[in-house]
Amino acid sequence: MQYILIILCWLSGLLYAAGNTSTNNDTPPVARAASPDTNRLLGLPPLPVPVDNPQSPAKIILGNKLFHDARFSIDGTVSCSKCHNDQLSFTDALPVSMGNNGKTGARNAPTVVNAAFNKLQFWDGREPDLENQSKQPLLNPVEHGLTSYEPITNIIRSDPDYQKAFAEVFGLSADKVTIDHVAKAIASFERTVLSGDSAFDRYYFKADKSAMTEAQVRGLQLFVGQGRCVSCHVIEQDQALFTDGKFHNIGIGINQIQKDVPLLTGRFMQAKDPKAEFAKASLEDKRNSELGRFAITREINQVGAFKTPTLRNIELTAPYMHDGSLKTLKDVMVHYNNGGATKTGDRVNDYLSGGIRPLNLTDAQLEDLVAFMQALTGSNYLKSAAKGGN
Ligand code: HEC
Ligand code: HEC
Repeated sequence: MQYILIILCWLSGLLYAAGNTSTNNDTPPVARAASPDTNRLLGLPPLPVPVDNPQSPAKIILGNKLFHDARFSIDGTVSCSKCHNDQLSFTDALPVSMGNNGKTGARNAPTVVNAAFNKLQFWDGREPDLENQSKQPLLNPVEHGLTSYEPITNIIRSDPDYQKAFAEVFGLSADKVTIDHVAKAIASFERTVLSGDSAFDRYYFKADKSAMTEAQVRGLQLFVGQGRCVSCHVIEQDQALFTDGKFHNIGIGINQIQKDVPLLTGRFMQAKDPKAEFAKASLEDKRNSELGRFAITREINQVGAFKTPTLRNIELTAPYMHDGSLKTLKDVMVHYNNGGATKTGDRVNDYLSGGIRPLNLTDAQLEDLVAFMQALTGSNYLKSAAKGGN
């Protein structure tokens, strides 16, 4: 049955991320179907695939295995899936992630779900695509903690399964495998980690009026109306990624360190290579993380600005925001209703986006917005959520 399914998917031009790869940390494999043009998930645009890294079933299976391999870390416990856990919609349920030897970073792990559509990767957009992104955590001292890629290529060279897979996918003997091949395979796998076909999609794009509850319909009206959410969390006529791919300061984190901003920004103004400077600075002093997009572009209006995240599967990815500081969706709604202040009456910061103003919504309306957010879970994740997380 499984084989017939694979052949059918392949014949009809679907990419099938099959689930029978063995993994190191017993994370159940994922099976998602997506296609660059036909039969794509309801509500998603066509999948962008780089010409130099076409999708193939074997590459996706290899990427899945690499993504879950904890041997690629200094203490043998950290795989990508430690922080991007299949069972938690590819997040880790922590405010900020924990890497090797219990070390923590300054930021919340964003979901990998639909990251394939991101125009830029990371909260501050410092990497252009999935291929380049995936090489960073491996060398990050608080994540995988390796000091070079050599341990990874050594493992691949000594593992018969990898030898076979890299030969099949890239036509290479294992001694020719570089980190770029590893990155390509991981990115291919990530391009199958997609969420669409939610209750909202059926309601909005298929005119199935019974797909959403009354509260969810009211929430959608607020989302596009009085809440003005849609100006950043975009819904298009025929698809919705719930992000504009841009960077905004909505008053998270930076509100608390305003007086430090002149000092912190100064360091970046002088830096020759802002990306390298950020890597250093964020380890030395976590307040640097709060500068957001500014640390990369050095544009003063980007102080405290972070990438608009997708809202798909948002019910499954608490806690929220780049620093994981908001525990529930209701907390998020209250923050927006206050016009960019988490507690009513807190002062907002000087760099706040013009799009963030008090909304004057009632408590019942905030609840409706929360209900709407709960209509954004993809049908393929509803099933895995029912099985329970781990
Ligand atoms: C220790 C936890 C941890 C590990 C391990 C980890 N990540 Fe992440 N990941 C994060 C955090 C935290 C961020 C956000 C960092 C930032 O924006 O500065 C992130 C960001 C990302 C993003 C960007 C998503 C977006 O919306 O911008 C992708 C894609 C991603 N990780 C994939 C991977 C892959 C692939 C691996 C393995 C090679 C990996 N991660 C390993 C914690 C982790
Ligand atoms: C000016 C652009 C903008 C507007 C308007 C806006 N958002 Fe956001 N939203 C963002 C950005 C940027 C973030 C991430 C901010 C951060 O972490 O510092 C975010 C984060 C969120 C998150 C948390 C996502 C996560 O993965 O942590 C939710 C939920 C959310 N917004 C919902 C809404 C709702 C509902 C509205 C309307 C009431 C709204 N947003 C209005 C830009 C916006």
